Amino acid sequence: MLKKDFLWGGAVAANQCEGAYLEGGKGLSIMDIVTAGDKNHPRRFTLNLESDAYYPNHEAIDFYHHYKEDIAMFAEMGFRCFRTSIAWSRIFPNGDEEEPNEEGLAFYDRLFDELKRYHIEPIITISHYEMPLHLVKAYGGWRNRKLIDFYVKYAKTLFQRYRGKVRYWMTFNEINSTIHVPAIAGVIISEKEDKKQVSYQALHHQFIASALAVKAAHDIDSDNKVGCMVMTTVGYPKTSHPLDVEAAQQYLRDGTLFFCDVQVRGAYPSYFHSYGIDIQMEENDTQILKEGCVDYIGFSYYSSNVVAHHMEGELCDGNIVKGLKNPYLEASAWGWQIDPDGLKYLMRTLYERYEKPLFIVENGLGYADEISEDGKIHDDYRIAYLRSHIQAMKEVVEHEHIDLLGYTAWGCIDIVSAGTGEMKKRYGMIYVDRDDAGNGTNQRKKKDSFAWYQKVISSNGEDL
Ligand code: BG6
Repeated sequence: MLKKDFLWGGAVAANQCEGAYLEGGKGLSIMDIVTAGDKNHPRRFTLNLESDAYYPNHEAIDFYHHYKEDIAMFAEMGFRCFRTSIAWSRIFPNGDEEEPNEEGLAFYDRLFDELKRYHIEPIITISHYEMPLHLVKAYGGWRNRKLIDFYVKYAKTLFQRYRGKVRYWMTFNEINSTIHVPAIAGVIISEKEDKKQVSYQALHHQFIASALAVKAAHDIDSDNKVGCMVMTTVGYPKTSHPLDVEAAQQYLRDGTLFFCDVQVRGAYPSYFHSYGIDIQMEENDTQILKEGCVDYIGFSYYSSNVVAHHMEGELCDGNIVKGLKNPYLEASAWGWQIDPDGLKYLMRTLYERYEKPLFIVENGLGYADEISEDGKIHDDYRIAYLRSHIQAMKEVVEHEHIDLLGYTAWGCIDIVSAGTGEMKKRYGMIYVDRDDAGNGTNQRKKKDSFAWYQKVISSNGEDL
């Protein structure tokens, strides 16, 4: 059995749902300058808004104005928690102001009060790719150490303002994405630069900022629990050739565990030397990392990959990181391979290594749902995906006594895809009438998975 107070719920990010990109004094954020794309056409970071480009995050699903209606539906599903992020540029529109923007702070007060009405615990990501654009243009994003001060000031503002209202925090969404898509961290790298060097230095600044924020959160309220959040990479060896096995070991270590090692254990691991990167550290950095260890490990898990010493063969897609195709697995229409067993493998690895509570804060299936002739959305494929992953999660929790805080299904309401900018890559149990070009009424509608998830939560995961 899962524990009685298991945190069942759903997850979104401010930039993918709120819209209202210039309302309430909000400044532009890095995600406001990312165009729409699709599976074959990558999104573009335009730095300045182009009049003929479409930016889907500007309006998203207008959660900013629909949050009451949406939270009522989450409550109807029985959510015990709801994960979202705070849009940094609603609080500090440029990022380097002296004083925060009261209108932005007040919006999240209203949001948290609404959640409280239904006894839904907010799980808050402090930064989910939402850095104020000004910090990118004027400072170069996380490549600049000054960002640490701006971030810590922002984080402290949140801890003080929402003291007693929010207890669960995560410092950076998928902190490892900085290495793969530095632009997400506001780091625009020129061709002449060494991408690896620059992105790991930017990451170091985030590690320090995260550690300082963890410490501040604990100082401000000892009830605060702060987690890291990593995108996880599970890669199976292509063959039993020892070099393929070694490649798989490194794929997991370098893609996932390294980031937890620093944030959970509070120090760079010895194998970091093999990366050949020279991090510029300041005198106190080692101490800061040591004092800012996270309380739990939040992670996203969608799919697994295959890796080999020589990455030859058919490639498959995945969450930011790619790998080889696995002949034993089915994939989604976006090429993400569906693998509930990979979740067990991952949970075991994380728990055995750190013995810290885990939190599955993202998991789900992106699918181009269609409305049937009866006017309903019969998303049995999504139910099958979620069921198999929840079953896998329960198995390891029950048999191996892994401490798991909760499970938040990604995109519990349809939102703009982070990877492609599409609306049609839907994850929700709630359908939103909006298409890839921004047309639609924004009306919400329950899918079949809505009643199914309601039943799962009310039975605490027993009735799947
Ligand atoms: C994670 C992100 O990478 O995966 C989310 O934290 C994102 O922001 C999710 O939406 C699913 O990815 P996508 O590209 O299908 O939206």
